[in-house]
Parts: sequence; C-alpha cells; structure tokens
Amino acid sequence: MRIVGMYPAYRPRRLRRTAALRRLVRETNPTVAQLVLPLFVRSGRNVRRPVRAMPGVFQLSPDQLIREAERAYQAGVPAVLLFGIPDRKDEKASEAYAAKGVVQTAVRQLKKALPELIVITDVCLCEYMSHGHCGVVRQTARGPEILNDPTLELLGRVAVSHAEAGADIVAPSDMMDGRVRAIRAALDANGFVDTPIMSYAAKFASAFYGPFREAAESAPKFGDRKTYQMDPANVHEALREVAMDIAEGADIVMVKPALAYLDVLYRVKAEFGYPTAAYAVSGEYAMLKAAAANGWLDERAVTIEMLTALRRAGADIIITYAAKEAAEWLQAGA
Ligand code: PBG
Repeated sequence: MRIVGMYPAYRPRRLRRTAALRRLVRETNPTVAQLVLPLFVRSGRNVRRPVRAMPGVFQLSPDQLIREAERAYQAGVPAVLLFGIPDRKDEKASEAYAAKGVVQTAVRQLKKALPELIVITDVCLCEYMSHGHCGVVRQTARGPEILNDPTLELLGRVAVSHAEAGADIVAPSDMMDGRVRAIRAALDANGFVDTPIMSYAAKFASAFYGPFREAAESAPKFGDRKTYQMDPANVHEALREVAMDIAEGADIVMVKPALAYLDVLYRVKAEFGYPTAAYAVSGEYAMLKAAAANGWLDERAVTIEMLTALRRAGADIIITYAAKEAAEWLQAGA
C-alpha cells in the first residue's frame, strides 16, 4: 500500500479535534470482556501474604481468593487464572494432581460462589516439585536432566484433576513437547471433551518472570528453564511452537511475556487467526508499579496504553495482574 502522496485532501487533524471525534474513529478499544486476572492460592483461612515485588498481589487462602475474585468480577473481569502454592513439594509433584490439592479445592469453592466466573487453571509442575522445575528430573552423569516424556503423563493428570474440580479452561505453561496432545487425550478419555486448552505456546525464557517465582515459590533450585522455554531472540521458532500446539489441539494460544514481544503477538495472530492471549507478566507489572510509586509514570494512563498496544498487536485475551484496576478504569471511560 502506498500511503504518502495518495490522498491530497486528507487532514488527519480534523478527526483529532475533540475527544468525541477521536473516540469515533478509534481503531482499537480494549474492553473488560477480554481481561483475565491471575491469582495465587495457598491453604488456610484469612491468609493474605503480600508478594514483595508485586504491590497489590497476594498469596490468598481460598476464602480470600473468593473475595478477590468477587471484586474483580464485579468490576467486570470475566475470568481468573489460578496458580497454587502447595503445603508439600516432592519429586513427583503429587499435590499438583491431588483431588484435594490447593487449586482443586479453590476451584470447587470458586465455582460454587461465582458460577459465572470463568476459572482457568495453570497446569504446571514447578510449584509442586521440590526442585522447582516444570518437569520430572533425573540425575545423570552429566548432571540433572529434565525428562520430557515422563512429564506428559503427570500433566495429563493435573489437567484432569482441575477439570474434575470444575475448571472451565486448562492452561499448560510447562513447555514440554507434546503436552497439548497428552492433555487433550487425558481430558477426552475422562469425558472432558468440551474443556478447552489455552496453551502457553510461545513462552520465552524471560527475566521478566522474576517476581512471579517469589509469588508462586517456584524458582528452580538448580539450573534454569532455558532448555524448555524459548530463546527471546527467536520468532520463527515461536511460530513453529504455536503451529505445533494448534496441531495438537490447543483452542487458545498464548504469547508470553507481552510488551517486549508485540512482534511475536502480531505474527501469531496474523499467521494463524486463532484466539490469541497475551500474558503481561509479573515483571511488566512490577516495572510499572515501581515507576508509579515514585511518581515517574501515570499508572492509569500507562496501563490503558499497554492494554491498547496489546489489542492493536492482535491479542484477543489479555492476562494481567492489573485486571481489576484496568476494568474499573475502562468502565469509568478511560
Ligand atoms: C510456571 C509459570 C511461570 C509463569 C507462569 N507460569 C514462571 C516460569 O516459567 O518460570 C510466569 C508468570 C509471570 O511472570 O507473571 N511455569
């Protein structure tokens, strides 16, 4: 498309003169209907443990989780994404698929209290493994190794246990190869043919996850996640990962982190036209909170600008720790 010199009478300023005119011709409008609020749940009653690098984010016991979800729902947020912090960790991530595990218990209570709220569960093992990795670990002569295939069976069990508890969508974030197919097969075999999978398809090995690992108590005890998460430098690999997840049965694909990966998001949406989610991760939230606390950035304006950018780049769904505030601002006409 040739743009310059083609439209001699065009004067963009005419359409920018008033706020009403600007709204009339606005191309991208973030709405509350697309927001997902991540929440951290642990056992107990009346527990609200603040996460140091994420002001306003807490590890919550199920009763407090319901309160938090209720507030967000009332503000217009249609969905939450749950992460669990178990009482016990081991080498098999037993608590991740226990029928009375912390997430399973929370999902049951949430669905009872707020039946219309969409409950998405993160399917991963890192919070439940004593070593903090997303897969099964074996000691070898070369040192510890993460085993892809033995992990798949466990992930299938986690997803089924979440669906049994009432989860509306399961979201695998482990990045093992073949997990979407394994999870789809496990769900189908257990009668959950209608439970969608939102796969963390293009998930990069990012330093922006720093604050999350404190929130979820899931930092790896040795090594890093670079063998199973993606190199931030690679976009073609991201497209292959997304293609694979779609072929294996993903219903929604995700790009994560969000702001530093807008080009990936744009290409994923353009290439596949699938329902696409962007995850504005813990570090993105922390950066803005820190700058806002110092009076260096206008939190409300920047939050809305970031949501708009994600929408413009192609996100259908936006997962953000600022979902409740953003919903309130959007409802107030931001
Ligand atoms: C678990 C998982 C992580 C995040 C979501 N699921 C952390 C990781 O991969 O280390 C990060 C979310 C965030 O930073 O907000 N596999």
